[in-house]
Amino acid sequence: MGRWDGRRDRTSDRMSERGAMRVGVLGVGRIGAFHARALSGMEAVERVVVADADHGRAEAFAARAGVEATRLPEVFAGIDAVVIAAPTAVHMELLRRAADARLPILCEKPIALDPTIAREAVEYVGAHGAGLQVGFQRRFDPMYIAARAAVRAGTLGTVTRVHAVSVDRRPPPPEFVPTSGGIYRDTHIHDFDIVPWVTGMPIVEVTAIGANRGAAVFRECDDVDVSAVLFRLADGTLGTAHAGRQHGPGYDVRLELAGTDGTHACGGVTEGDFLTRFGDAYRAELAAFVAMAAGRITSPCPGPDALAAQAVAEACVVSRREGRTVRVA
Ligand SMILES: NC(=O)c1ccc[n+]([C@@H]2O[C@H](COP(=O)([O-])OP(=O)(O)OC[C@H]3O[C@@H](n4cnc5c(N)ncnc54)[C@H](O)[C@@H]3O)[C@@H](O)[C@H]2O)c1
Repeated sequence: MGRWDGRRDRTSDRMSERGAMRVGVLGVGRIGAFHARALSGMEAVERVVVADADHGRAEAFAARAGVEATRLPEVFAGIDAVVIAAPTAVHMELLRRAADARLPILCEKPIALDPTIAREAVEYVGAHGAGLQVGFQRRFDPMYIAARAAVRAGTLGTVTRVHAVSVDRRPPPPEFVPTSGGIYRDTHIHDFDIVPWVTGMPIVEVTAIGANRGAAVFRECDDVDVSAVLFRLADGTLGTAHAGRQHGPGYDVRLELAGTDGTHACGGVTEGDFLTRFGDAYRAELAAFVAMAAGRITSPCPGPDALAAQAVAEACVVSRREGRTVRVA
């Protein structure tokens, strides 16, 4: 807590004057629109204000969703907390502005496309801001919470193998692909956050291979649309992570753990997409963010955890490019 105490108190004071919080949402694309609607349904949130580089889009969304729209420069002045859901390439700029305004921040993953910039962003927000939560919603999903509890309870004995799957039903819009950072930074990064969170062990080594089996846009962006990553955890546990951009039968998110005394398998193919599969997890993530912004809890997904996941993604980028096993920096 330490240095944040004063700022948290100040935030709580401002909110207690009105009894509820005003939350800004920057970017009302796929995920920002979901977040804004979810926040507007929360009792603790008095007002949701959206801003988008495309102001017409923000206004049209606001009219549909019953929230307010404002222009980007003004948005920072009239809010108590901010959700950054703009494309990854502009996160750094928005994080700086939000930190300068002393706002608690929920920033979508990944923090930046470049790990050096991501580190700078986390340091900047740590020095100037009022708390950072990064958008790894799986930490709020009952399936992963149960898997973590099973490991902690010791029912699996010594965990020896982990298998994670993250496969989309349909590819993202083609215009999103060049902004995504590629399959490791965009999709696998969820695995690289949740596996250490569930097992309690960091990923220390990766071997990444990929293939192009679907939409041409991935190849054109030097990306792959099917991926397999072999990894080793700090205690020697071996794991595999599979990701894919297209699987007609449905969205396939799974985790399997095997140990000396037992196994724990969860998840599988579901209809819909990430917004339906993880809808409740996103809502729980946002509720935790509101609690963090009110000073009631510390960040459930702090910046350094996101940097750790990003370091694994960067190791995968090098591994695929150079065709070798890479230690995670
Ligand atoms: N946690 C998750 O599961 C999850 C899921 C999807 C996307 N994301 C992340 O969320 C972010 C947004 O992804 P998306 O799929 O919603 O993108 P998107 O392209 O659908 O929407 C982005 C929106 O941001 C707007 N925008 C562009 N520049 C802006 C700026 N400077 N300020 C404010 N708005 C700006 C765009 O006009 C657009 O409306 C990315 O970082 C992505 O990786 C996370």
